[in-house]
Amino acid sequence: MPRGYFITFEGPDGSGKTTQLRRLAAWLEADGHKVVTLRQPGGTSLGDRIRSILLDSQSEVTLGPIAPLAEMALMFADRAQAIDEIIRPALDAGAIVLCDRYTDSSEAYQGAGRGLGSERILAMHRAVCDDLDPDLTLLLLPSLEASLHRARRRNQRNARQKGADENRFEREDDSFYERIYHAYETIAEREPQRVEAIRDDATIEQIEQRIRQIVSLRIPAIVV
Ligand code: TYD
Repeated sequence: MPRGYFITFEGPDGSGKTTQLRRLAAWLEADGHKVVTLRQPGGTSLGDRIRSILLDSQSEVTLGPIAPLAEMALMFADRAQAIDEIIRPALDAGAIVLCDRYTDSSEAYQGAGRGLGSERILAMHRAVCDDLDPDLTLLLLPSLEASLHRARRRNQRNARQKGADENRFEREDDSFYERIYHAYETIAEREPQRVEAIRDDATIEQIEQRIRQIVSLRIPAIVV
């Protein structure tokens, strides 16, 4: 059975992964590959509903505080639906799937950020993700200082834009982001085969080149 290739993009808020994902998708498509892109949470109809509950800062006004375990379970409900509806069928059809965030985000944000611990996240992954691990994870990890600076700038921008609805996660303090950052470092050390960490504060173009190099080293093995 043909099997495509599953690439996830990870990193703290504001690490530039969404821009890099779009650029990589365009580059792979120009090279004749079939590419499917999605982001988590979201991507399916169910996932978009879950996304608005999880990210909308107004949610807690109408629903009350969201318990960390409920937050984790909703992230995984979104993921299970995306696997069933989008990711698995695309891989079975031989596509390269580029996913903006996946289980590493849950490990970093809910596991470390919310303090639920990695074990619980990894057990949840085994239970609901149908054994689907990325073939490659591109982890964009600017320096901690740059990450915090970008996250703060985003918060201030959101606060200034009257009526703008900032992401619930973007209201957290520096220590939340520091825990996320260190969790990503731990994941990269634990799984060096899967995770390629791009650590510097290089320009968008330099990081794009680096990603192309990494992907083209792996692609010959995956062309179906
Ligand atoms: P989004 O606006 O897509 O941010 P970004 O461009 O940084 O990815 O919001 C996604 C948010 O959801 C982000 O703050 C991280 C958070 N998140 C989790 O906490 N756990 C998860 O499992 C996932 C997939 C995302």
